Amino acid sequence: MENTFKKTAIWTIVFTLILSVVWLPALWFFTLWIPIIVLGYYDYHQTSHTLLRNFPVVGHGRWLMERIRPFVRQYFFESETDGAPVSRMFRSLIYQRAKGSLDSNPYGTKLDTQRVGYEWIGHSMAAKHHDAKHPVTRILVGGPDCIQPYEASIFNVSAMSFGALSDNAIRALNKGAAIGGFYHNTGEGSVSDYHLEHCGDLVWQIGTGYFGCRDEKGKFAPEAFQKVASKDAIKMIEIKLSQGAKPGHGGLLPADKNSNEIARIRLVEPGTQVDSPPGHSAFSTPLEMMDFIQQLRDLSAGKPVGFKLSIGRTSEFVAVCKAMLETGIKPDFITVDGGEGGTGAAPLEFSNSVGMPLREALSFVCDVLIGFDLKKDIRVIASGKVFSGFHLVKNLALGADICNSARGMMVALGCVQSLVCNTNSCPTGIATQDPKLTRGLVVPDKAERVAGFHQATVNSTMEMIAAAGLRNTADLNRSHIFRRISETQVRRFDEIYAIPVVGSFFDDEAPTKFAQALKESSAESFFPKQYVTETTEGLKAAS
Ligand SMILES: Cc1cc2nc3c(=O)[nH]c(=O)nc-3n(C[C@H](O)[C@H](O)[C@H](O)COP(=O)(O)O)c2cc1C
Repeated sequence: MENTFKKTAIWTIVFTLILSVVWLPALWFFTLWIPIIVLGYYDYHQTSHTLLRNFPVVGHGRWLMERIRPFVRQYFFESETDGAPVSRMFRSLIYQRAKGSLDSNPYGTKLDTQRVGYEWIGHSMAAKHHDAKHPVTRILVGGPDCIQPYEASIFNVSAMSFGALSDNAIRALNKGAAIGGFYHNTGEGSVSDYHLEHCGDLVWQIGTGYFGCRDEKGKFAPEAFQKVASKDAIKMIEIKLSQGAKPGHGGLLPADKNSNEIARIRLVEPGTQVDSPPGHSAFSTPLEMMDFIQQLRDLSAGKPVGFKLSIGRTSEFVAVCKAMLETGIKPDFITVDGGEGGTGAAPLEFSNSVGMPLREALSFVCDVLIGFDLKKDIRVIASGKVFSGFHLVKNLALGADICNSARGMMVALGCVQSLVCNTNSCPTGIATQDPKLTRGLVVPDKAERVAGFHQATVNSTMEMIAAAGLRNTADLNRSHIFRRISETQVRRFDEIYAIPVVGSFFDDEAPTKFAQALKESSAESFFPKQYVTETTEGLKAAS
């Protein structure tokens, strides 16, 4: 290729010089040729890219194609059901609902109803009609120990921090929450001024970095917590154990993103890299975790306190339930995040292959709570690809009381799924801190869209349950949903995910699928018993 490049360069120069004899302005072409020749010379001699050494100049086409590939696919080749993580069908639905434009579907379903995995709700012959005069279900969160219970919408904004999202995105989500009467989870990056500007209800999330409630060593600081938790806007507190997109992986705030503003909000040193450890330092056993829940409840004057997790080893969740029973301290809510959940940035292996998918995780959590007769006091919140009324219905039927959405709300804000959340160059000004990009996001307009998406989705949920003859989402259960499990067989959800008898885990009557987790779990350790050593001080995790 060297010869081809040299020959082409020499012939171009000679031809241009000859042309300039008859037409002098041809010399201007050198302003184009010289940079190309310099680039080719550089490509040929650089040592990082084989392709450019072998094909100087033209080899850059490969990188150009890689860059535009997602856009070409999305705009020219994507079918209705294509596109990940949010398919085109649901992106369009969210845009339509957010804008309040026509969202009805012409000509019938585009889904393959014979496909294994196809699901639907069984409607009733005594179907009801839902309209504005019928009440929309609200869910009271707050067990017997909670002094300030909170009445939540069935659909809310899932955790996303200021830092992962821009100031204007946070403002628009919060204003949308205020307009629509639903909550906005702060994410683990603490409570910023943008979260408070529009007075939307907040769930304050506390991760392993204890941002906004930490001392200089990064440990939990009760006074700092109390100061923030006492704010009126904060309705509930969520301890984040893990999230589905990267369970067991701590977050990292790079030094260049750690601006003075972010440092002030998170109580960290500006301009330094801040690592969030994968686990909590405020507790190291299920029993200590319950004490921490009680401490947060006391410090927040009795606001609902819960935790968020992605299910990993099942015995660990059983261990947490055993700790609830042993201490008598219960969380007011548990948020179950599916392994399919989103994030600003995570290692591919963690996003692809760590964490239980929502369906299995949600049914498992609900079953264990039912088996220990704990479900009556604890609300279950589900997150993971909830974009439509039917997504809500499925999760509520499995046992959730409430659903959260992160990426659905981002799409309502105008996200075009360009998949660059981890590069600070989000073209829609949502997942970036670049002021040149965030200025494009107009808060009042996008707040209306977030509220519009919420309202239309809740309305669709209420219409769907009315078609099943119900008025309250709490009356949904697993018998309402059907799933195709082979070309010729269909099962109801209650046949696939059989519900244990309430309290049956106390009488050794737990279904066999829970036997192993029940046997290996202990309130004294997150680890299963066989990995725990008996010491004079009690049970200790073996190293
Ligand atoms: C940009 C972005 C930032 C997120 N930040 C957090 C976070 O700070 N804390 C957390 O628990 N989950 C975080 N998540 C996960 C979401 O809260 C949610 O659990 C997950 O994306 C599943 O919901 P979805 O499918 O509706 O997106 C984030 C997700 C996204 C897309």
